[in-house]
Amino acid sequence: MKIAIINGPNLNLLGKREPGVYGSQSFEEYLPELKSIFPDVTFSYFQSNIEGELVNEIQRVGFEFDGIIINPAAYTHTSVAIGDAIAAIKAPVIEVHISNVHAREDFRKLSHVSAKARGSIFGLGLKGYELAVKSLIG
Ligand code: DQA
Repeated sequence: MKIAIINGPNLNLLGKREPGVYGSQSFEEYLPELKSIFPDVTFSYFQSNIEGELVNEIQRVGFEFDGIIINPAAYTHTSVAIGDAIAAIKAPVIEVHISNVHAREDFRKLSHVSAKARGSIFGLGLKGYELAVKSLIG
């Protein structure tokens, strides 16, 4: 089973960035923990601050991997291109947000991804990625 994790802009700053909202652990610290919970899953990990690079990665893994976990971060709320890329591929997609986007500013309530995803998880911190893997492996 191959699962791709794709993180969008500013998630490279997890641990340093608004820790009251996003916690104090970096994704690089969290990823080995996640991998150790699912030793039978092969993970790829990609983070970019650039919208088109995220689209390229969705297309790259979208016909080859068994599932994608994506946190498009701020592009969730603005990117028709990322929503279209998710609609275009074969792999099921789980949308993850670390914070509860519905308890924050109104602009965070719009997602161009949710309607194209198999499911969405928000507000559960980094644990959301683990729950997303569980949902993909059934
Ligand atoms: C986020 C929520 C987005 O609104 C925000 O722009 C992010 C992170 C989250 O994981 O909670 O960068 O996707």
